[in-house]
Amino acid sequence: MLFAGKKVLITGAASGIGRATAIRFAAEGAAVTIGDRNAAGLEETAALMASTPTIQTYDATDLASCRALVDVAARDGLDVLCNIAGMLKWGSSETFSLDDFELLLKINTTSVFALCQAALPHLVKSGGNIVNTASTAALQGIAYTIAYSASKHGVAAITKGLAIEYGAKGVRVNAICPGHVETPMTRDTPVPEGDIDWSVVMRNAPKLRDGSCSPDDVANMFAFLASDQASKVTGALFTVDGGQLAG
Ligand SMILES: NC(=O)c1ccc[n+]([C@@H]2O[C@H](COP(=O)([O-])OP(=O)(O)OC[C@H]3O[C@@H](n4cnc5c(N)ncnc54)[C@H](O)[C@@H]3O)[C@@H](O)[C@H]2O)c1
Repeated sequence: MLFAGKKVLITGAASGIGRATAIRFAAEGAAVTIGDRNAAGLEETAALMASTPTIQTYDATDLASCRALVDVAARDGLDVLCNIAGMLKWGSSETFSLDDFELLLKINTTSVFALCQAALPHLVKSGGNIVNTASTAALQGIAYTIAYSASKHGVAAITKGLAIEYGAKGVRVNAICPGHVETPMTRDTPVPEGDIDWSVVMRNAPKLRDGSCSPDDVANMFAFLASDQASKVTGALFTVDGGQLAG
């Protein structure tokens, strides 16, 4: 088991990729704390896990609640932080509201930094690591989702910068860049309306025959990067995208 005796905090665990990752880490022997703003979803996730997790609701827009989440997860130490909570909103740049722009940056970027900042003293003690969730939108421009793409470019910057700052202290920091993954986020987020040129939206289709990714495909990468198998991997951004960004 990859994570026997390890203490792991997973955000966004009420749904999609976060849920699959929580299930995977518990199956690998970790003592897991799951966080999300969706309390009912956390209970559903807990029922699917091999061991009973610690459940803590928090709201990524409330940075004090981000710090409180880490306090709960790190009560007996912390080995791994998986930042997975996130929000997507599409919209034409002509009309995209600046309030929504700021909201996406707060949830997808600022809260990730706040959680890293709170977790790092514990990870320095344990020689632990962080795995963030960026996106293929962190590696290329994506039309009609400028705020989301900006927020995920921010996650890439946080990941690489912290890897440099904390490398000498023995803490690794990496990020995963999923392409299209079948989750409630991709199913339920309203598509942009109005004057949209769809030909520029999905320019990078998956190249693999069955290239659309599942949450489990991404959870596998979380497990690898957070484990000792990746002990020499830090400051890296890994695509899990069925080849979307291959060209
Ligand atoms: N699904 C994709 O195609 C895809 C692609 C690239 C990156 N991602 C990223 O993967 C991560 C997980 O996304 P998913 O597809 O599993 O979506 P999802 O909607 O299934 O899960 C996102 C989770 O984040 C939680 N969340 C949202 N806002 C929150 C807040 N303010 N406070 C606390 N929790 C909050 C939600 O409640 C939900 O449980 C996100 O960071 C997303 O940006 C997803």
